[in-house]
Amino acid sequence: MQSPCPILILNGPNLGFLGKRQPEIYGSQSMDDLPVLLETVMGAQAKAVRIDLFQSNSEGGLIDRLEKAWEDKTAGIVLNAGAYTHTSLALADALAWIHIPCIEVHISNVNARANTLRHTSLIAPSCIGVIAGLGILGYALAVQALVYQITHP
Ligand code: DQA
Repeated sequence: MQSPCPILILNGPNLGFLGKRQPEIYGSQSMDDLPVLLETVMGAQAKAVRIDLFQSNSEGGLIDRLEKAWEDKTAGIVLNAGAYTHTSLALADALAWIHIPCIEVHISNVNARANTLRHTSLIAPSCIGVIAGLGILGYALAVQALVYQITHP
């Protein structure tokens, strides 16, 4: 039997209270809803994925976890860096060297939001794709896309 594909889902600052934080912007679902969404999107293939979920409010915590992903030979990363998406050159630097396929995810449609700072991503150039505005479903779709990319090099 093949070993499951190891995927890291990395959530940045203020993403530890999804479902409770500003539900009018971020919805009422939380990461607890992810397994069901994954199965809905991927069917039986969801069982072939090992999800490692990590959240940190600090920039250093996120970078440490990315370095660990490189050491562990993690196959793919789904990254919602929260506000660090728009500000953190340090996070962008980490992603630029670890060379693990990464999909940037946002729960809200950042490009439609009033604060135009949210329209810029420093990490997008090191990502293979971006999903925004689809809520928690976006994470499931990102995992599906990563597995496809990894298994169809
Ligand atoms: C977010 C969008 C960011 O602009 C914001 O700072 C967040 C959440 C999202 O998932 O929609 O914290 O990454």
